[in-house]
Amino acid sequence: MLDLKRQYQGLRHELLDAVGQVIDSQQFILGEEVAAFERAAAGQLGVRHALGCSSGTDALWLALASCQVGPDAAVVTTPFSFFASVSSILRAGAKPVLADIDPVTFNLSAAAVEQVLNSERGVGATAILAVHLYGQCADWTEFARIGRERDLRLIEDAAQAWGAGWEEKKAGGLGDAAAFSFYPTKNLSAAGDAGMVTTNSDAIAERVRMLRQHGMRRRYYHDELGWNARMDGFQGAVLQVKLKYVGAWTEARRQVAARYDALFRKAGLAEGGLYPERGVVLPREVKGAKHVWHQYVIRVARRDALREYLTGQKIGSEIFYPIPLHLQEALKMLGYREGDFPEAERAAREVLALPIFPELREDEQETVVGAVAEFLS
Ligand SMILES: Cc1ncc(COP(=O)(O)O)c(C=O)c1O
Repeated sequence: MLDLKRQYQGLRHELLDAVGQVIDSQQFILGEEVAAFERAAAGQLGVRHALGCSSGTDALWLALASCQVGPDAAVVTTPFSFFASVSSILRAGAKPVLADIDPVTFNLSAAAVEQVLNSERGVGATAILAVHLYGQCADWTEFARIGRERDLRLIEDAAQAWGAGWEEKKAGGLGDAAAFSFYPTKNLSAAGDAGMVTTNSDAIAERVRMLRQHGMRRRYYHDELGWNARMDGFQGAVLQVKLKYVGAWTEARRQVAARYDALFRKAGLAEGGLYPERGVVLPREVKGAKHVWHQYVIRVARRDALREYLTGQKIGSEIFYPIPLHLQEALKMLGYREGDFPEAERAAREVLALPIFPELREDEQETVVGAVAEFLS
């Protein structure tokens, strides 16, 4: 599914040097390495501020809390994402309100968001948290309009979307604040857990800085209840090295995706509709988006049987995500039921992520597509 060693081989000396410098400096928490990464990251994304923190999950909480999303607020988000997209809202003390997804991109549907905002459940909503799932931005033309018209805060869950774009802007600079994850499988990855908040607002950045250090502006004077959500120096050093290469890796991912597309079409497996019948519905980059292909996710009718077949052929695949968030045991108290979000539920039954990473070879992709063809025939 993902071979991290191929990337590491080329960077081994540079990474070990960078890590060695942190040990030499004995500055293990935040410090100059993290600050240098923050400056370089902000420059690459075209945002005023980038603040390193301990994980993507903490970045989501910091983004929400720094935008003053707290108790009594409701936040509209998607039921089809990683758990943290919803749990971070609860962690901030606010109430998650869910809306269904768009079946083409799997991202939060702007039309569904407007519907929920006009309903009883939407009363008290102060923010929208949109996830750029699989590396493709949610429809920011629509979310920017809704945010403006209804005076809502817009928060991006950009955990899977380093370098992704919407029209002329990059993910991380679209909303009031954005959260990135550098979990080791992400397009830009740390050597452990790490995350980042980006914003163009000086006030929000100042709050993130304070909240990630137990609410301290002055040492041992706690103005607000924050948390320990700091990035460590090793991660800052590793991420600085990888930041130089991530642009080229993104282009390689885009080529891998284009090659899958061509191979599936050549094999006669690509279906035109929204939902699969006998073949495969391929993922699409929609107008306005620059997709960074964190995942290459197809839709197939007999998904579980196909996955089993691929596993038998020693081909990795993954299901992101098998259970929509409204049906998770831990989120029962939100009061949703099966049938509430038909698009998310259908996606959970049909999606299958195929191997994708910058170093994936053409012959390996041919093997993957060949195995899918074999199964479907
Ligand atoms: C969409 C999404 N949001 C949030 C997270 C949480 O990030 P982390 O694992 O770094 O806490 C992840 C990654 O796992 C994710 O994919």
